[in-house]
Amino acid sequence: MARIAIVTGGTRGIGEAISLALKDRGHTVVANYAGNDEKAKAFTEKTGIAAYKWDVGDHEATLAGVAKVAEEVGPVDIVVNNAGITRDGVLHKMSFEDWNDVMRINLGGCFNMAKATFPGMRERKWGRIVNIGSVNGQAGQYGQVNYAAAKSGIHGFTKALAQEGAKYGVTVNAIAPGYIDTDMVAAVPAPVLEKIVAKIPVGRLGHAYEIARGVAFLCSENGEFVTGSTLSINGGQHMY
Ligand code: CAA
Repeated sequence: MARIAIVTGGTRGIGEAISLALKDRGHTVVANYAGNDEKAKAFTEKTGIAAYKWDVGDHEATLAGVAKVAEEVGPVDIVVNNAGITRDGVLHKMSFEDWNDVMRINLGGCFNMAKATFPGMRERKWGRIVNIGSVNGQAGQYGQVNYAAAKSGIHGFTKALAQEGAKYGVTVNAIAPGYIDTDMVAAVPAPVLEKIVAKIPVGRLGHAYEIARGVAFLCSENGEFVTGSTLSINGGQHMY
């Protein structure tokens, strides 16, 4: 059945692949983005998927953005909380701002999007929420106390909200991607990245579409008995 889906950070990287995968499965997709207008315009021209701009780390802006989508497209059945940033640095060099931005956007974004959409899903007795966590939220990562804490928080958030959604037909799951060949990973210094890839049993970075396939399954009708779970897609880097 065709549903209405919002993918946050849905015009680039893993988010772009998720938007496309959900569209391929017949859903009406809205891709949210926060900053890069040029990329969003090109994405819409290429894919026909509408892009809506707001910062998911801003509570009021998220409520207003989702209300606009509901008015112009329809009530939202599927949310993929994919938007995320890195502000890597060892703790003794990390500013409060770098801590706070990552918590506000990566973890706060999940709360804000759920506040805007979960009540409607609950009322309509059907919903899918997929939160994009990270291998680094499961295992930790040198230089990422902010990111690892936020992503780990996403895994806890997922399990708690899954319990609240279960009797209303709303499933809430997480995917924990490993290192995927996106701009975010390309920003890791090459010698550091080489060492990380050397520890991935499959021997390579993942591709964005490999994450998107997992998301598409969790969002499908067939996923109805899967809730509160975390699907690791990481080439065997961390077995959790
Ligand atoms: N374990 C132990 N020590 C480490 C280490 C590690 N993993 N990585 C670096 N170090 C050590 C270095 O050997 C070095 O030690 P010495 O001073 O004794 O030589 C020291 O830490 C400083 O290292 P750097 O020169 O790299 O320090 P820096 O301050 O310039 O940079 C950093 C630190 C920003 C954390 C940098 O190492 C870095 O970018 N690391 C990659 C972090 C990472 O993996 N981010 C993932 C981004 S992608 C993502 O997050 C997507 C996802 O979900 C997977």
